[in-house]
Amino acid sequence: MAILDRHAILERSPTLLLVSSLLVVTVGGLVEIAPLFWLENTIEDVEGVRPYSPLELAGRDVYIREGCYTCHSQMIRPMRDEVERYGHYSLAAESKYDHPFQWGSKRTGPDLARVGGRYSDQWHLEHLIDPQSLVPESVMPKYGFLMDARLEGEDIGDLLATHRFVGVPYTDEQIELAQQDFKAQADPDADWEETLERYPGAVVGNFDGQPYVTEMDALIAYMQVLGTMVDFSTFTPDESR
Ligand code: HEC
Repeated sequence: MAILDRHAILERSPTLLLVSSLLVVTVGGLVEIAPLFWLENTIEDVEGVRPYSPLELAGRDVYIREGCYTCHSQMIRPMRDEVERYGHYSLAAESKYDHPFQWGSKRTGPDLARVGGRYSDQWHLEHLIDPQSLVPESVMPKYGFLMDARLEGEDIGDLLATHRFVGVPYTDEQIELAQQDFKAQADPDADWEETLERYPGAVVGNFDGQPYVTEMDALIAYMQVLGTMVDFSTFTPDESR
């Protein structure tokens, strides 16, 4: 048992043990982490995942500003209770255009990663104005004031450009037409067909019923796209990676 005898030397010298452990952890850590920086496919490309439309992106900013993430997570873990309650577990690709990501670490309210399409636009409007009118025991604050915050979208192109700067693949066309798309998505009477070509699956609507775009419209457009980009009836995880 020569090798075990030699191991005793290691175990009896705290310094040697510490230095050796450090060495083992360093090598192990490098082997696990370093390749992630070079592998092209660290994040699996998944069909359907697209950058947010200008209106959705503006709604996402409202979501962050209002601190919705302090009560809501946006990441469904691959555990049975979560998958049964919220739907397919979240894929890394689904938040690859999120800067910063909204996974969250606290669930005072439900996870919102797949809330898109679960409720009607009208439900969201009523719920945001007065959550307790729909869920009497809710502790969620009222957000009716978002209907008073009018948005023109004059700087929305810059917002898209900023996201492109950190890696979101917005095209020149998308940035140029950002304000037009922003308004079209919030107006069912507008020419939104081309907007939907640029942002497939975006939900068009005058969500709060007012004749101009508000933060409320943007927030509901954002809620309604969450978790809807990937078609899970055809999605199969790539096991080869
Ligand atoms: C103080 C904590 C808190 C904050 C802040 C909060 N919520 Fe909630 N939210 C809740 C709770 C609790 C529920 C569950 C009861 C209910 O539906 O009202 C909920 C429910 C929801 C639901 C319904 C989810 C489902 O699957 O039924 C949506 C959508 C939602 N919140 C959106 C938002 C948005 C958007 C914001 C920010 C503008 C926000 N919440 C801020 C606590 C919060």
